[in-house]
Amino acid sequence: MTHSLVDRNDIVDVVSGYVRLSKRSGANQFGLCPFHSEKTPSFSVNAEKQIYHCFGCGKGGSVINFIMEIENLGYRDAVAFLARRAGMPMPEEQNDAESRKRARMLALNKDSARFFYEQLSTPEGRRAGEYMAQRRISPATARNFGLGYAPDTWDSLEKAMRQKGYTDFELADAGLVRRGKNGGFYDTFRNRLMFPVIDVRGNVIGFSGRILGDGEPKYMNSPETLVFNKSRNLFALNLAKKSKSGYIILSEGNIDVVSLHQAGFDSAVASLGTSLTAEQARLLSRYTNQVIIAYDNDGAGLKASQRAINILEKLDVKVKVLRMSGAKDPDEFIKAKGPEAFRKLLEGSENQVDYRLRAVTEKYDLAVDEQKVEFLKEATELVARLPGAVERQVYAMRVAAQAGMQDAPILAEVERRHKRLVSRAYREEQRQQSQPERQSQPAEKALRYDDPDSARAEEGLIRLLSLEPALGARPELPEAERFSSPALGHIYSVLRGRIARHESVSSANLGEELNGDEMSLLVCIQQAPVSLTQSDRALQDYIKIIQERWQQRTQKDAPLDLRALATSQREKGKRYEGNG
Ligand code: CTP
Ligand code: MN
Repeated sequence: MTHSLVDRNDIVDVVSGYVRLSKRSGANQFGLCPFHSEKTPSFSVNAEKQIYHCFGCGKGGSVINFIMEIENLGYRDAVAFLARRAGMPMPEEQNDAESRKRARMLALNKDSARFFYEQLSTPEGRRAGEYMAQRRISPATARNFGLGYAPDTWDSLEKAMRQKGYTDFELADAGLVRRGKNGGFYDTFRNRLMFPVIDVRGNVIGFSGRILGDGEPKYMNSPETLVFNKSRNLFALNLAKKSKSGYIILSEGNIDVVSLHQAGFDSAVASLGTSLTAEQARLLSRYTNQVIIAYDNDGAGLKASQRAINILEKLDVKVKVLRMSGAKDPDEFIKAKGPEAFRKLLEGSENQVDYRLRAVTEKYDLAVDEQKVEFLKEATELVARLPGAVERQVYAMRVAAQAGMQDAPILAEVERRHKRLVSRAYREEQRQQSQPERQSQPAEKALRYDDPDSARAEEGLIRLLSLEPALGARPELPEAERFSSPALGHIYSVLRGRIARHESVSSANLGEELNGDEMSLLVCIQQAPVSLTQSDRALQDYIKIIQERWQQRTQKDAPLDLRALATSQREKGKRYEGNG
């Protein structure tokens, strides 16, 4: 079952749905790791071996592990997910309680969205229609977004969904009703314009409800549920991901997004009432390499822009910030000046250096000497962080001009600060590399080796077995119990079991027998270079180290000379590392 499942879900295809694979080197394709923040791609997918591996965070495994990790699913759900993707039958799918609950909640959300939409054509729903007309949202746009109306009553949705067979508890779990003091349930969203939040796969995962007109709170959003996590989703990304524009516009309000799409800017999204989170930024970076920030033109918007820049900068995403003058937000701007003016704005949007420099400039009164000094400190530090020498020069000259100074001293100051930053970064790198136990620990943080010397030999043995399964028949191989690391011991016994049954030891087929951490570890071990010319010598040495370390660990109060022996083994253990 899982074998053909893996065959029918090419890992490059599957991963490409989440990660832009931009570079290629041999059988490996590289992109930015979806599991940790990074700027240069260290996440690799190998089409031949059908595995992925991140050189940065150590995560790795088969296509099933990838789906487990990225969709946050258990093994069975991930298998079901891939079966569905490949159009394969999945008879046991409905057995799992959690996946049944998820499916049920998604169905409830979808039914609720339909209910809200239908309310638009009731007499009471006319209020929402009027509000949309006032905001110039056309019926076609409303349909495109699936907008709706939550009536001004306590139980319209509750009643309608109960009639469809959902229980109050299911409604409460989905955040659609709340429990009142008297124990009854009442609708969460009342008298609001409803925006369904739809994920990139087309599921209705939650709702935002905007008040009709002025009032507080302006927005209500679904609470966290089994299927809804505000910080991991963006409003309208389901539509924006299909855009051909090459960039994504990030704005604050749902109305802004709707209005932007209506005006032809089909790549607008909004975060769901929070400022941009790292997860949302990673999500965006799967679909685009350029984000244009179009936040509200006020203090809060400015602060939020700054924060979003900081987050997006850590990824490989270019950031520009829109400067709207004479309008409080994109919606107002488009209404006042038209889509063409907005397009001009997009084309002329500032890059992040301009933007930040302007923010620094606006903080100080350059006519006052002390403030000018502060300005220069902050501005030169900002410019010093730019990686390119030409870039630094261009911006240093601009800073000089702003302060009415000559170029040379400013340039010198920028370069001095730049050197200091570089050497600080270098020292930090040195420090990290010289931490010895860090090198002999697995990249996967969830695992720790108690006996790094033995673990290194255990890894070596695993590496040899997966490259030369025939070695698995050797009688002198130790029992897995002799391993110091339970995770390595388990991987080892799984490999030996498969070799004994003449099954493939390629990691793409081990998903069922290994957990996620073990899988990452195995893939990581397999990535290390090894020379097979000495495989027999290496095998014997690894076995010897494992046996000796085991004896020493099990021997209470080991005498001193054994400790000395252990030290000498440490040297041996190093010999086969990286000599391929
Ligand atoms: N907000 C929220 N939940 C959402 C969307 C927005 O809590 N799902 C919050 C944002 O955090 C921000 C504000 O609402 O504080 C942004 O709203 P605004 O741009 O004013 O919203 P619009 O829908 O564009 O409304 P308006 O027509 O008034 O501009
Ligand atoms: Mn707005």
